[in-house]
Amino acid sequence: MSALLELRNVWVEYGEKVVLERVGLQLAEGSFVGVVGPSGAGKSTFLRLILGQEAPTRGQVLLDGTPMRAECGPDRGVVFQRYSVFPHLTALRNVMFGIECAQAPFAVRLFGSKRRDARDTAVEMLAAVGLEHSLDVYPAQMSGGMQQRLAIAQALVKHPRILLLDEPFGALDPGIRLDMHALITRLWQEHGLTIVMVTHDIGEAFKLGTRVLAFDKRRVDPHAPHRFGATVTYDLPLDRKTLPPAALVEALYGADLPQKDLA
Ligand SMILES: Nc1ncnc2c1ncn2[C@@H]1O[C@H](COP(=O)(O)OP(=O)(O)OP(=O)(O)O)[C@@H](O)[C@H]1O
Ligand SMILES: [Mg+2]
Repeated sequence: MSALLELRNVWVEYGEKVVLERVGLQLAEGSFVGVVGPSGAGKSTFLRLILGQEAPTRGQVLLDGTPMRAECGPDRGVVFQRYSVFPHLTALRNVMFGIECAQAPFAVRLFGSKRRDARDTAVEMLAAVGLEHSLDVYPAQMSGGMQQRLAIAQALVKHPRILLLDEPFGALDPGIRLDMHALITRLWQEHGLTIVMVTHDIGEAFKLGTRVLAFDKRRVDPHAPHRFGATVTYDLPLDRKTLPPAALVEALYGADLPQKDLA
């Protein structure tokens, strides 16, 4: 069986600047991939490649064995650290807009019974993320955690096969983060999703993921910092007991983050 998603010798370059180089990997359906790496290593760029928002300058990205067209498809949903919902729409309208967007290639306004169905589906999705009592609330009236729940509902209502998360919990308090970990794990299982999640928190990647990818530069030219790009430096399949390798922790945080902080 072929992988859900495959990158073959992928490069991303902006003029002279190499951001990613020689990225080759396969992602299995149903996996939960944590992506870590220093700032500027190309993690968000990697997500944009999978989202189809950006095309590689060399190499290929294949979805189900077929080269991906450079456009966002309904099979991929995305949640960013902040501001992925529309401030001028209520929670319910935000999620209904997600459904309207799934009527590719263009967002369409739904009417009549289709609109009622969309409303029911949106209400169901909002209940699944614990926002059933906040249908008519605007994002500005919500806490950070509620906004991220809303963003997840908006992304999931399109029934994407792949959910892309770019530091989705980075701005949240530790307690709320734990709630979100439980929520995303449940949604991943219930919806049979494939998740790719960028995080600055290596403990989070190891806690939630079935696999962790680290992006970093292997080769550095001090006279031309952009001559070489980042690539996958670690690719770790996880079971629940795996701890991050000390060398990876050091690459991300400097010398000495105690391993116990990561467990
Ligand atoms: N449109 C662009 N033109 C030129 N350079 C770009 C462009 N988009 C991204 N880059 C560069 O690509 C590199 C990787 O950016 P990217 O946002 O993918 O990093 P990241 O790993 O997500 O970083 P962070 O952890 O800070 O979010 C950066 O050096 C950035 O400046
Ligand atoms: Mg980023």
